Amino acid sequence: MEPELVALRDGAQLDIWQDFRLSTMPEIISAMNLCHAVFALVDTGVLANLRAGRRLPENGLLDGVVDGMGEGFLTYLRMRGVVEVRDGGYSLTRKGELLTGDVALARLGIYLEAYGPVMSRMSDLLTGRATYGADVERRGGPLARHCATLFSVFHTPVLVRAMRGRGVRTVLDVGCGGGGLLVDACLADEELTGVGLDISADAVEEARRLAGRAGVADRVEFVVGDAFAPHTWPAAARAADGMCVVSALHELFRDGEQAVVDVLDAYRATLPDARIVLVGEPEIRYDAKDNDDDFFLIHLLTGQGMPRERAEWLRVFDKSELECRRIYHRPEAGPRVCFYDLAPRN
Ligand SMILES: C[S@@+](CC[C@H](N)C(=O)[O-])C[C@H]1O[C@@H](n2cnc3c(N)ncnc32)[C@H](O)[C@@H]1O
Repeated sequence: MEPELVALRDGAQLDIWQDFRLSTMPEIISAMNLCHAVFALVDTGVLANLRAGRRLPENGLLDGVVDGMGEGFLTYLRMRGVVEVRDGGYSLTRKGELLTGDVALARLGIYLEAYGPVMSRMSDLLTGRATYGADVERRGGPLARHCATLFSVFHTPVLVRAMRGRGVRTVLDVGCGGGGLLVDACLADEELTGVGLDISADAVEEARRLAGRAGVADRVEFVVGDAFAPHTWPAAARAADGMCVVSALHELFRDGEQAVVDVLDAYRATLPDARIVLVGEPEIRYDAKDNDDDFFLIHLLTGQGMPRERAEWLRVFDKSELECRRIYHRPEAGPRVCFYDLAPRN
Protein backbone atom coordinates (compact mmCIF):
# COMPACT_ATOMS: atom_id res chain seq x y z
CA MET A 1 0.00 0.00 0.00
CA GLU A 2 1.12 3.52 -0.78
CA PRO A 3 2.22 5.36 2.38
CA GLU A 4 0.16 8.40 3.35
CA LEU A 5 1.95 11.68 2.53
CA VAL A 6 1.43 14.38 5.15
CA ALA A 7 2.35 17.95 4.17
CA LEU A 8 3.23 19.99 7.25
CA ARG A 9 2.65 23.71 7.00
CA ASP A 10 3.58 25.97 9.84
CA GLY A 11 3.59 29.75 9.35
CA ALA A 12 6.40 30.38 11.82
CA GLN A 13 8.66 27.77 10.17
CA LEU A 14 7.84 29.17 6.75
CA ASP A 15 8.87 32.66 7.90
CA ILE A 16 12.14 31.38 9.30
CA TRP A 17 12.98 29.51 6.11
CA GLN A 18 12.02 32.46 3.91
CA ASP A 19 14.20 34.73 6.02
CA PHE A 20 17.09 32.33 5.50
CA ARG A 21 16.51 32.41 1.73
CA LEU A 22 16.18 36.20 1.68
CA SER A 23 19.38 36.55 3.64
CA THR A 24 21.20 35.23 0.52
CA MET A 25 23.05 32.82 2.80
CA PRO A 26 22.19 29.86 0.49
CA GLU A 27 23.98 31.58 -2.39
CA ILE A 28 26.88 32.56 -0.16
CA ILE A 29 27.38 28.96 1.01
CA SER A 30 27.17 27.74 -2.59
CA ALA A 31 29.67 30.35 -3.75
CA MET A 32 32.08 29.33 -1.00
CA ASN A 33 31.89 25.65 -1.93
CA LEU A 34 32.06 26.39 -5.64
CA CYS A 35 35.32 28.27 -5.03
CA HIS A 36 36.78 25.13 -3.44
CA ALA A 37 35.40 22.95 -6.23
CA VAL A 38 36.87 25.11 -9.02
CA PHE A 39 40.19 25.08 -7.21
CA ALA A 40 39.95 21.26 -6.90
CA LEU A 41 39.07 20.97 -10.58
CA VAL A 42 42.47 22.52 -11.34
CA ASP A 43 44.45 20.99 -8.49
CA THR A 44 43.32 17.39 -9.13
CA GLY A 45 44.28 17.65 -12.79
CA VAL A 46 40.70 17.01 -13.98
CA LEU A 47 40.63 20.37 -15.82
CA ALA A 48 43.89 19.53 -17.60
CA ASN A 49 42.50 16.10 -18.52
CA LEU A 50 39.35 17.71 -19.91
CA ARG A 51 41.33 20.24 -21.91
CA ALA A 52 43.54 17.46 -23.26
CA GLY A 53 40.44 15.81 -24.71
CA ARG A 54 40.08 13.05 -22.08
CA ARG A 55 36.37 13.68 -21.72
CA LEU A 56 35.18 10.43 -20.13
CA PRO A 57 36.27 8.54 -17.01
CA GLU A 58 37.23 5.56 -19.19
CA ASN A 59 39.57 7.85 -21.19
CA GLY A 60 41.36 9.12 -18.10
CA LEU A 61 39.20 12.14 -17.20
CA LEU A 62 39.28 11.20 -13.52
CA ASP A 63 42.88 9.98 -13.30
CA GLY A 64 44.27 11.05 -9.96
CA VAL A 65 40.86 11.17 -8.24
CA VAL A 66 39.84 8.57 -5.64
CA ASP A 67 37.69 5.80 -7.14
CA GLY A 68 34.02 6.40 -6.54
CA MET A 69 34.39 10.10 -5.74
CA GLY A 70 35.22 11.44 -9.18
CA GLU A 71 31.82 10.64 -10.71
CA GLY A 72 30.13 12.41 -7.82
CA PHE A 73 32.41 15.41 -8.26
CA LEU A 74 31.32 15.61 -11.91
CA THR A 75 27.68 15.36 -10.82
CA TYR A 76 28.20 18.32 -8.48
CA LEU A 77 29.90 20.32 -11.25
CA ARG A 78 26.97 19.57 -13.54
CA MET A 79 24.54 20.73 -10.85
CA ARG A 80 26.49 24.00 -10.59
CA GLY A 81 26.55 24.45 -14.37
CA VAL A 82 30.33 24.18 -14.66
CA VAL A 83 30.38 21.07 -16.87
CA GLU A 84 27.82 19.43 -19.11
CA VAL A 85 27.56 16.21 -21.08
CA ARG A 86 27.78 16.99 -24.75
CA ASP A 87 28.71 14.97 -27.87
CA GLY A 88 29.38 11.81 -25.90
CA GLY A 89 31.60 13.28 -23.20
CA TYR A 90 32.02 15.93 -20.52
CA SER A 91 32.73 19.52 -21.57
CA LEU A 92 33.07 22.79 -19.77
CA THR A 93 30.01 24.99 -20.13
CA ARG A 94 30.54 28.62 -21.11
CA LYS A 95 30.34 29.47 -17.42
CA GLY A 96 32.91 26.72 -16.75
CA GLU A 97 35.22 28.25 -19.37
CA LEU A 98 34.93 31.68 -17.75
CA LEU A 99 35.46 30.32 -14.24
CA THR A 100 38.65 28.60 -15.36
CA GLY A 101 40.07 31.52 -17.35
CA ASP A 102 43.58 32.65 -16.37
CA VAL A 103 42.55 35.84 -14.59
CA ALA A 104 39.62 34.19 -12.77
CA LEU A 105 41.85 31.35 -11.51
CA ALA A 106 44.60 33.75 -10.48
CA ARG A 107 42.17 35.85 -8.44
CA LEU A 108 40.72 32.70 -6.88
CA GLY A 109 44.21 31.37 -6.19
CA ILE A 110 45.24 34.52 -4.33
CA TYR A 111 42.31 34.33 -1.94
CA LEU A 112 42.00 30.56 -1.59
CA GLU A 113 45.46 29.11 -2.07
CA ALA A 114 47.72 31.96 -0.92
CA TYR A 115 45.53 33.57 1.77
CA GLY A 116 43.31 30.54 2.60
CA PRO A 117 45.45 29.61 5.64
CA VAL A 118 44.93 33.16 6.93
CA MET A 119 41.20 33.45 6.23
CA SER A 120 40.47 30.11 7.89
CA ARG A 121 42.06 31.39 11.12
CA MET A 122 40.19 34.71 11.11
CA SER A 123 38.72 34.49 14.59
CA ASP A 124 42.02 33.24 16.06
CA LEU A 125 43.82 36.20 14.50
CA LEU A 126 41.15 38.69 15.60
CA THR A 127 41.22 37.47 19.19
CA GLY A 128 44.98 37.09 19.42
CA ARG A 129 44.82 33.29 19.88
CA ALA A 130 47.04 33.19 16.81
CA THR A 131 49.57 35.71 15.51
CA TYR A 132 50.31 36.30 11.87
CA GLY A 133 53.91 35.44 11.08
CA ALA A 134 54.28 33.13 14.08
CA ASP A 135 51.26 30.75 13.92
CA VAL A 136 49.78 31.60 10.54
CA GLU A 137 51.31 32.60 7.24
CA ARG A 138 50.17 33.22 3.69
CA ARG A 139 51.72 30.92 1.08
CA GLY A 140 54.47 32.80 -0.79
CA GLY A 141 54.78 30.44 -3.78
CA PRO A 142 51.11 30.51 -4.84
CA LEU A 143 50.92 34.27 -4.14
CA ALA A 144 53.86 34.83 -6.45
CA ARG A 145 52.47 32.57 -9.17
CA HIS A 146 49.00 34.10 -9.20
CA CYS A 147 50.24 37.71 -8.96
CA ALA A 148 52.53 36.96 -11.91
CA THR A 149 49.52 35.96 -14.04
CA LEU A 150 47.59 39.10 -13.15
CA PHE A 151 50.52 41.43 -13.43
CA SER A 152 51.67 40.17 -16.79
CA VAL A 153 48.19 40.88 -18.18
CA PHE A 154 47.66 44.27 -16.59
CA HIS A 155 50.96 45.78 -15.51
CA THR A 156 53.83 44.72 -17.76
CA PRO A 157 52.80 47.19 -20.47
CA VAL A 158 53.05 50.02 -17.92
CA LEU A 159 56.52 48.94 -16.83
CA VAL A 160 57.78 48.60 -20.41
CA ARG A 161 56.37 51.99 -21.38
CA ALA A 162 57.73 53.80 -18.32
CA MET A 163 61.21 52.24 -18.55
CA ARG A 164 61.58 52.63 -22.31
CA GLY A 165 60.69 56.31 -22.08
CA ARG A 166 63.66 56.80 -19.73
CA GLY A 167 66.24 54.74 -21.62
CA VAL A 168 66.53 52.08 -18.89
CA ARG A 169 68.59 48.99 -19.77
CA THR A 170 68.66 47.06 -16.48
CA VAL A 171 65.63 46.97 -14.22
CA LEU A 172 65.72 45.99 -10.57
CA ASP A 173 62.32 44.61 -9.49
CA VAL A 174 62.08 44.76 -5.71
CA GLY A 175 59.48 42.39 -4.20
CA CYS A 176 59.45 40.64 -7.57
CA GLY A 177 57.25 37.74 -6.47
CA GLY A 178 56.99 35.14 -9.25
CA GLY A 179 59.01 37.32 -11.62
CA GLY A 180 56.20 37.77 -14.12
CA LEU A 181 56.79 41.46 -14.56
CA LEU A 182 60.52 41.17 -15.34
CA VAL A 183 60.21 38.09 -17.52
CA ASP A 184 57.43 39.64 -19.58
CA ALA A 185 59.27 42.94 -19.82
CA CYS A 186 62.35 41.10 -21.14
CA LEU A 187 60.18 39.28 -23.66
CA ALA A 188 58.69 42.60 -24.79
CA ASP A 189 62.08 44.36 -25.05
CA GLU A 190 64.93 42.11 -26.15
CA GLU A 191 67.63 44.50 -25.00
CA LEU A 192 66.36 44.71 -21.43
CA THR A 193 68.05 42.84 -18.59
CA GLY A 194 66.85 42.57 -15.02
CA VAL A 195 67.42 41.60 -11.42
CA GLY A 196 64.50 40.47 -9.25
CA LEU A 197 64.63 40.42 -5.47
CA ASP A 198 62.11 38.96 -3.03
CA ILE A 199 62.09 37.92 0.61
CA SER A 200 60.25 34.70 -0.17
CA ALA A 201 62.57 31.89 -1.28
CA ASP A 202 59.54 30.08 -2.75
CA ALA A 203 58.72 33.13 -4.85
CA VAL A 204 62.32 33.36 -6.08
CA GLU A 205 62.19 29.68 -7.03
CA GLU A 206 58.96 30.30 -8.99
CA ALA A 207 60.59 33.28 -10.71
CA ARG A 208 63.67 31.29 -11.73
CA ARG A 209 61.47 28.52 -13.14
CA LEU A 210 59.40 31.07 -15.08
CA ALA A 211 62.51 32.70 -16.55
CA GLY A 212 63.80 29.27 -17.61
CA ARG A 213 60.49 28.34 -19.26
CA ALA A 214 60.33 31.72 -21.05
CA GLY A 215 63.92 31.41 -22.34
CA VAL A 216 65.18 34.62 -20.70
CA ALA A 217 67.22 33.07 -17.86
CA ASP A 218 70.39 34.55 -19.40
CA ARG A 219 68.99 38.09 -19.03
CA VAL A 220 67.34 37.97 -15.60
CA GLU A 221 68.69 37.01 -12.23
CA PHE A 222 66.52 36.38 -9.15
CA VAL A 223 67.83 36.64 -5.60
CA VAL A 224 66.40 36.35 -2.10
CA GLY A 225 66.67 39.71 -0.36
CA ASP A 226 64.92 42.28 1.78
CA ALA A 227 63.19 45.06 -0.14
CA PHE A 228 63.45 47.33 2.87
CA ALA A 229 67.18 46.86 3.55
CA PRO A 230 68.86 48.13 0.37
CA HIS A 231 72.30 48.18 2.05
CA THR A 232 72.17 44.34 2.02
CA TRP A 233 71.45 44.06 -1.72
CA PRO A 234 74.02 42.36 -3.98
CA ALA A 235 76.13 44.45 -6.37
CA ALA A 236 74.11 43.32 -9.40
CA ALA A 237 70.97 44.82 -7.85
CA ARG A 238 72.67 48.11 -7.06
CA ALA A 239 73.99 48.47 -10.61
CA ALA A 240 70.52 48.74 -12.17
CA ASP A 241 69.63 51.98 -13.96
CA GLY A 242 65.91 51.64 -13.29
CA MET A 243 63.93 50.19 -10.41
CA CYS A 244 60.38 49.13 -9.74
CA VAL A 245 58.62 48.00 -6.61
CA VAL A 246 55.12 46.72 -7.21
CA SER A 247 52.53 45.90 -4.55
CA ALA A 248 55.17 45.54 -1.86
CA LEU A 249 56.04 48.98 -0.49
CA HIS A 250 52.78 49.45 1.42
CA GLU A 251 53.80 46.52 3.63
CA LEU A 252 56.29 48.89 5.28
CA PHE A 253 53.49 51.15 6.53
CA ARG A 254 53.30 48.64 9.38
CA ASP A 255 56.39 50.49 10.71
CA GLY A 256 54.85 53.92 10.16
CA GLU A 257 54.91 56.47 7.37
CA GLN A 258 58.42 57.73 8.10
CA ALA A 259 59.77 54.21 7.46
CA VAL A 260 58.42 54.40 3.91
CA VAL A 261 59.92 57.87 3.38
CA ASP A 262 63.26 56.61 4.71
CA VAL A 263 63.33 53.58 2.44
CA LEU A 264 62.54 55.75 -0.60
CA ASP A 265 65.54 57.91 0.31
CA ALA A 266 67.61 54.76 0.76
CA TYR A 267 66.61 53.59 -2.73
CA ARG A 268 67.80 56.92 -4.11
CA ALA A 269 71.14 56.59 -2.29
CA THR A 270 71.63 52.89 -3.13
CA LEU A 271 70.92 53.29 -6.85
CA PRO A 272 72.49 56.65 -7.68
CA ASP A 273 72.28 55.88 -11.41
CA ALA A 274 68.60 54.97 -11.40
CA ARG A 275 66.67 57.14 -13.83
CA ILE A 276 63.35 56.05 -12.49
CA VAL A 277 61.87 54.38 -9.42
CA LEU A 278 58.48 53.06 -10.48
CA VAL A 279 56.25 52.39 -7.49
CA GLY A 280 53.15 50.32 -8.28
CA GLU A 281 50.63 50.35 -5.48
CA PRO A 282 47.10 49.03 -5.09
CA GLU A 283 44.51 51.61 -4.05
CA ILE A 284 41.87 50.67 -1.52
CA ARG A 285 38.75 52.77 -2.00
CA TYR A 286 36.66 51.22 0.75
CA ASP A 287 33.88 49.77 -1.38
CA ALA A 288 32.93 46.23 -2.36
CA LYS A 289 33.69 46.55 -6.06
CA ASP A 290 35.97 43.93 -7.65
CA ASN A 291 36.79 42.37 -4.23
CA ASP A 292 38.11 45.61 -2.75
CA ASP A 293 36.61 44.53 0.59
CA ASP A 294 38.35 41.15 0.40
CA PHE A 295 41.60 42.87 -0.43
CA PHE A 296 41.18 45.08 2.64
CA LEU A 297 40.50 42.02 4.81
CA ILE A 298 43.64 40.11 3.84
CA HIS A 299 45.75 43.14 4.64
CA LEU A 300 44.03 43.64 7.97
CA LEU A 301 44.49 40.02 9.07
CA THR A 302 48.12 39.74 8.04
CA GLY A 303 49.15 42.92 9.84
CA GLN A 304 50.62 44.23 6.60
CA GLY A 305 50.66 47.94 6.21
CA MET A 306 47.41 49.02 4.61
CA PRO A 307 47.52 50.17 0.98
CA ARG A 308 46.69 53.86 0.62
CA GLU A 309 44.91 56.13 -1.75
CA ARG A 310 46.70 58.19 -4.38
CA ALA A 311 46.58 61.49 -2.46
CA GLU A 312 48.15 59.85 0.59
CA TRP A 313 50.98 58.37 -1.48
CA LEU A 314 51.69 61.76 -3.02
CA ARG A 315 52.03 63.22 0.48
CA VAL A 316 54.56 60.47 1.34
CA PHE A 317 56.59 61.05 -1.85
CA ASP A 318 56.64 64.79 -1.09
CA LYS A 319 58.52 64.06 2.12
CA SER A 320 61.18 62.03 0.29
CA GLU A 321 64.06 62.94 -2.01
CA LEU A 322 62.15 61.49 -4.94
CA GLU A 323 59.64 63.46 -6.95
CA CYS A 324 56.52 62.00 -8.55
CA ARG A 325 56.55 63.04 -12.20
CA ARG A 326 53.69 61.00 -13.60
CA ILE A 327 50.97 58.62 -12.46
CA TYR A 328 49.85 55.74 -14.64
CA HIS A 329 46.48 54.26 -13.83
CA ARG A 330 43.99 52.03 -15.57
CA PRO A 331 40.55 53.19 -14.49
CA GLU A 332 38.44 50.67 -16.37
CA ALA A 333 40.18 47.29 -16.11
CA GLY A 334 42.33 45.21 -13.85
CA PRO A 335 43.35 45.40 -10.23
CA ARG A 336 43.22 48.96 -8.90
CA VAL A 337 46.95 49.64 -9.08
CA CYS A 338 48.52 53.06 -9.66
CA PHE A 339 52.07 53.39 -10.93
CA TYR A 340 53.99 56.38 -9.62
CA ASP A 341 56.94 57.43 -11.76
CA LEU A 342 59.52 58.82 -9.34
CA ALA A 343 62.86 60.43 -10.10
CA PRO A 344 65.45 62.35 -8.07
CA ARG A 345 64.45 65.96 -7.49
CA ASN A 346 66.35 68.46 -9.63
C1 LIG B 1 51.57 41.18 -3.83
S1 LIG B 1 53.10 40.46 -4.16
C2 LIG B 1 53.57 41.30 -5.64
C3 LIG B 1 54.54 40.49 -6.42
C4 LIG B 1 55.23 41.14 -7.61
N1 LIG B 1 55.68 42.48 -7.40
C5 LIG B 1 54.49 41.02 -8.92
O1 LIG B 1 54.59 41.92 -9.72
O2 LIG B 1 53.83 40.01 -9.19
C6 LIG B 1 54.16 41.20 -2.93
C7 LIG B 1 55.55 40.60 -2.93
O3 LIG B 1 56.38 41.37 -2.06
C8 LIG B 1 57.22 40.48 -1.39
N2 LIG B 1 57.72 41.12 -0.17
C9 LIG B 1 57.04 41.49 0.92
N3 LIG B 1 57.87 42.00 1.85
C10 LIG B 1 59.11 41.95 1.31
C11 LIG B 1 60.40 42.34 1.77
N4 LIG B 1 60.58 42.87 2.98
N5 LIG B 1 61.44 42.13 0.95
C12 LIG B 1 61.29 41.58 -0.27
N6 LIG B 1 60.10 41.19 -0.76
C13 LIG B 1 59.02 41.38 0.02
C14 LIG B 1 56.36 39.28 -1.11
O4 LIG B 1 57.13 38.12 -0.82
C15 LIG B 1 55.57 39.18 -2.41
O5 LIG B 1 56.22 38.34 -3.34
